[in-house]
Amino acid sequence: MRAMKAAELRKLYLDFFRSRGHAVIPSASLIPENDPTVLFTAAGMHPLVPYLLGQPHPLGKKLADTQKCLRTDDIEEVGDPSHLTFFEMLGNWSLGDYFKEEAISMSFEFLTGSKYLAIPLEKISVTCFAGDSDAPRDNESAKAWEKLGIPKERIYFNPKKDNWWGPAGLTGPCGPDTEMFVDTGKEKCSANCRPGCPCGKYFEIWNDVFMEYEKTVDGKFPKLAQQNVDTGMGLERTAAILQGKSTVFETELFSPIMEKLQELANNYDARSARIIADHLRAATFVLGDDKAVAPSNVEQGYILRRLIRRAIRHGRMMGIEGNFCGEIAKQVVSINSGQWPELSRNSKFIYSQMEAEEERFGRTLERGLHEFGKIFSLSPSVSGKDAFLLFQSYGFPLEMTQELAKEKGGKVDAAAFNSEFQKHQETSRVGAEKKFKSGLADQSETTVKLHTATHLLHAALRMVLGPHVMQKGSNITPERLRFDFTHPEKMTPEQVKKVEDLVNMQIGRFLPVKREEMTLEQAQKSGALAFFSEKYEKGKVSVYSAGDFSKEVCAGPHVDNTGKLGKFRILKEEAVSAGVRRIKAVLTEVA
Ligand code: ALA
Repeated sequence: MRAMKAAELRKLYLDFFRSRGHAVIPSASLIPENDPTVLFTAAGMHPLVPYLLGQPHPLGKKLADTQKCLRTDDIEEVGDPSHLTFFEMLGNWSLGDYFKEEAISMSFEFLTGSKYLAIPLEKISVTCFAGDSDAPRDNESAKAWEKLGIPKERIYFNPKKDNWWGPAGLTGPCGPDTEMFVDTGKEKCSANCRPGCPCGKYFEIWNDVFMEYEKTVDGKFPKLAQQNVDTGMGLERTAAILQGKSTVFETELFSPIMEKLQELANNYDARSARIIADHLRAATFVLGDDKAVAPSNVEQGYILRRLIRRAIRHGRMMGIEGNFCGEIAKQVVSINSGQWPELSRNSKFIYSQMEAEEERFGRTLERGLHEFGKIFSLSPSVSGKDAFLLFQSYGFPLEMTQELAKEKGGKVDAAAFNSEFQKHQETSRVGAEKKFKSGLADQSETTVKLHTATHLLHAALRMVLGPHVMQKGSNITPERLRFDFTHPEKMTPEQVKKVEDLVNMQIGRFLPVKREEMTLEQAQKSGALAFFSEKYEKGKVSVYSAGDFSKEVCAGPHVDNTGKLGKFRILKEEAVSAGVRRIKAVLTEVA
């Protein structure tokens, strides 16, 4: 095995796939564009869904990248040696090009080749999909492994719960996978110990997914028009195993943070330190994303808040005095900004938001803990009402109250908390829902329309407010669009009206919406807006234009004529953070 730093591994991987005809694409944002089904990009395949479904990718059929990912489903596990909330995923894709045999042979070469990871063959074992009523047993992958020299007894078959990946949201591309494991040399924990066993003997290093199915809303798995490959290798974890470390926290990506925490803590605790390092690293990457998400009580902002607040509590548990989040964020920026320049570009925003959140929570944490103590001493089963009180009055996310209760052997009625929470939300939402009732055909059609409307809005804002307006984020649900953009001050009611009228005028003009492919340079020369694709260095991008009014580099999809949009209405214009404004708008059907 070749020991190497994470940066070397990243380069080696991307160079390897480049040399095998793959175009290296930049990481997409952590905040998905125009996708209401997930809050964060959780896998490399996620931003590529339109292409897995068949849309031609401007850079071709073979791609590779390192993608920033954030997963919160395991948030409670963080603190053990291997779970991370934020991580980088190395991946290579075939979009209807090569399939099982070629993908597996490239994986094999990269894992075992002396110029690459040089992992001894006898340490490698693999798993394949055992088959069920949705898809057959994957004998093809098993054969491919055997041919390369993996003996039958180290090829295991598992059901869907282990060897199937996707879809990223509720529906979409998915398929059987084959997972590669490295034997760490530890003793077997039991006679049944095999790859996938949580004891840690077998380290999962890579996953090749064969996405030739699509999960539909009714839970069926029809075949896609093309056979795709999606692979994922966790950068931090793989670097750790290559370096012979037993945790990611001992690698160069974390060690300066761990040292800092040791220095700050009065009673250092390894688990708390890992939680802090992981959570504040994730928070730094969310805050450092060009899409400017700030802590809040909804959606991405709430996850961010939970990460920071949990870290703060663990900091207090270790006896860290005073604010420390900003200092840890500085370490994260300095370790990572070489690869991720957005972290230094947005560092002011990162530090100011981190510190503001720590100030806010610092004010209520002590009192909240005191209140929790009182509640808990009356009953170790914390009611939903009490958990909601802790949330509302002291800013305790549910998970924090659960963690506090668990530490003392109690529990929280989470279902009751959720219904309290919903009751509360409903009262504020009833009014809004009435306004949202659009009467448009179906959800997906509505989101596509809202996406086209977003382009018109973007162009209209630049026309009314000026060319300093830049998109900072876009989020579309079946009910509304939300668009964040740079602008230093509140829009006047006249400006809002002007923008709304301008968009409606373009709808009334029945402008054709066209898609073209060109190089980024040509796109920019032709005046197309390209804020999120600026990192494409070569190759082609797709450009959507709505008549003569709007032109943007974008992956789509869009309606083919603006006349289909109905009537555009701005519901709200508000501040998101300093210099960033947000518009929420809807489309209503014209009578
Ligand atoms: N999408 C696959 C994963 O995340 C590669 O493991």
